Amino acid sequence: MEVIVTKTYEDMSALAARMIAQQILHKPSSVLGLATGSTPVGTYKELIRLHKNQGLDFSKVTTFNLDEYVGLPPTHNQSYRYFMDQNLFNHVNVPSASIHVPYGHAESVLDFCEWYEAEIQRFGGIDLQILGIGGDGHIAFNEPGSSLGSRTRLKTLTEETIEDNKRFFGPGEEVPRFAITMGVGTILEAKKIVMIANGKKKAEIIAEAIEGPVSSQVSASALQLHRHVVVILDQEAGSKLKRADYYKWVYEQKAKLMPNLIGKAT
Ligand code: PGA
Repeated sequence: MEVIVTKTYEDMSALAARMIAQQILHKPSSVLGLATGSTPVGTYKELIRLHKNQGLDFSKVTTFNLDEYVGLPPTHNQSYRYFMDQNLFNHVNVPSASIHVPYGHAESVLDFCEWYEAEIQRFGGIDLQILGIGGDGHIAFNEPGSSLGSRTRLKTLTEETIEDNKRFFGPGEEVPRFAITMGVGTILEAKKIVMIANGKKKAEIIAEAIEGPVSSQVSASALQLHRHVVVILDQEAGSKLKRADYYKWVYEQKAKLMPNLIGKAT
């Protein structure tokens, strides 16, 4: 695992975007795994800037998103599809036929989940997966207790998440209680993973996920089993890491001796 502690949210976002851009330049037909949430907004902004100012070309890229609420149409302003349209897809040249976000209105969720897994395989698997982390250590909607081998499936949201989400919905509007999410096992099959986290609120769980034991109680800890993970943090999110000095040392040595390898080594 490569852990990079940057100074600010902007630095974290710029580095994550650079790694995605490198991936696309290296393989224009890359399959990207994408995440929603507040964390990747800056990364997507930077990708849009690279597209507009430097011609970063998404025309051959295929995308798969991690999760989606069940029951929300893609046009609902709280759906993850809507989030992705607003924050990335509407501003870059990824063809709409190449975009995959789990479909919250699928007639048979079970069939849809199997199809989604098969579709990822049909495109040759995910080359680069972007992940955020929840305060409870979840990746995608894999709440604590999710099997480390889990696949794309229907997941019941925790009461806490449902309660949290109420503020985003109108009075009398039903708050989703279920989501379709890639499993931890699905995520671990990505060829490369970049996890990003910022802010004090994430410091404790980042330390647990990176330096604690691998456990289904902290889904993100499963990333320790993956051969090619880069974790990019801002200073605050990295503030509880015990081996922070070592990670910094590794980064400085690499930056000096092998600048092209930043983000490439395991
Ligand atoms: P956040 O959510 O980016 O809004 O903090 C992360 C997550 O829950 O995965």
